[in-house]
Amino acid sequence: MRILSIETSCDETAISILEVKGGKDSPVFSILGDETYSQIAIHTEYGGVFPNLAKREHAKNLPTILEKVLKEAHLWSQGTTSVDTETFNTTLSREPEMAKDLLEKISHITPPQIDAIAVTTGPGLEPTLWIGIMFARALSLTWNIPITPVNHMEGHLLSVLIDNSTKENNTIDFSKLHFPIVGLLVSGGHTELVVITRIGEYKKIGQTLDDAVGEAFDKVARVLDLPYPGGPKISNLAQQGKENPLVTLPRPMLRSDDYNFSFSGLKTAVLYLSKKLQEQNLWDKQIQADIARDFEHASCEVLLKKTQKAVEEFGAQAVIVAGGVAANTHIREEFEKHISVPLFVPKQTLTGDNSVMIGIAGYFQIQNGAPQYLYGSEHNPDEIKANGNWSVDEK
Ligand code: KG4
Ligand code: ZN
Repeated sequence: MRILSIETSCDETAISILEVKGGKDSPVFSILGDETYSQIAIHTEYGGVFPNLAKREHAKNLPTILEKVLKEAHLWSQGTTSVDTETFNTTLSREPEMAKDLLEKISHITPPQIDAIAVTTGPGLEPTLWIGIMFARALSLTWNIPITPVNHMEGHLLSVLIDNSTKENNTIDFSKLHFPIVGLLVSGGHTELVVITRIGEYKKIGQTLDDAVGEAFDKVARVLDLPYPGGPKISNLAQQGKENPLVTLPRPMLRSDDYNFSFSGLKTAVLYLSKKLQEQNLWDKQIQADIARDFEHASCEVLLKKTQKAVEEFGAQAVIVAGGVAANTHIREEFEKHISVPLFVPKQTLTGDNSVMIGIAGYFQIQNGAPQYLYGSEHNPDEIKANGNWSVDEK
């Protein structure tokens, strides 16, 4: 089965084509084509992601990325596709520029051999999710291929199914995957602990009560004068940091009797400490590195402790750590050292937002019988909606 997947939930525009062989219990994923355009350079100027700017960029980039990915997958062959232009333009009526670009490209090729389209419909920024959905609808209409809506956070969890220990994009050995699994989702918008009883069955057991951990990294970076996105910058600076008695940040909710997190107080503690050190003329590169280090340690400590607690209580057979913050080397090393069950983390290239993970999640959705949307069928693609707050454990 071949799946084309689309991801536009935030500031990465991504399309992939996956081929899946072997069946649901031991699938083998091959990435035939995969392109991601990062908008980071554009958003860095503003210190964060602006939804309307991101939306415009997605609309501009999607047709070009599609062409690249189809060529990479050897599914781009000159020919013709007859398109009902009126319906096509109605489907994309809110995005006439994208409609024009896309039509220009796909009316001059033969319909590619693809069985399904997977598209992120939430959680994320609704204006940007809508662009991906409209793009998926236009392709579905033109090529008569059904659409499967995908939860972005499920995508992050399943990104670990591509083996991170090799350079190649091999699929992990499914016989080593035992349930239940505790999943820790750490990104710019989410910090959640999830119990996974099988692929497709998730139960959220805790989450952040305020800022997400990635958001805290980004905000602390601003205090330390580092550009957006702050995670990788903090992580680099932290490597030069040392233990310093002047820098002792709190470990929020470390001992709370639940699986919730809070990172807003930690960020505020960094802000106050920085102000105090500036007033005392102690503000230099070394103390900034010491703060980055302790902030990273504090965040990691609470993430690790709560995950360990969940492993024990739920008898987890494995742990997954996924999402943008899973790129953090310190966090990866600490989990590797202290988690007593097998640990699955994504390949570095799949920690951030990408469409490969959306294709993988789409595959399991289809296998588990989720509705597929196709014009003229029981489920009309026009019913697919963006859901900015779609929780991973909500069907
Ligand atoms: O999953 P992701 O790419 O996008 C969302 O869905 O939010 O996560 C982005 C977040 C940003 O907050 C970024 O600062 C953080 O992941 N991040 C990191 C690292 N790399 C990215 N945080 C800590 N250490 C890193 N190495
Ligand atoms: Zn994400």
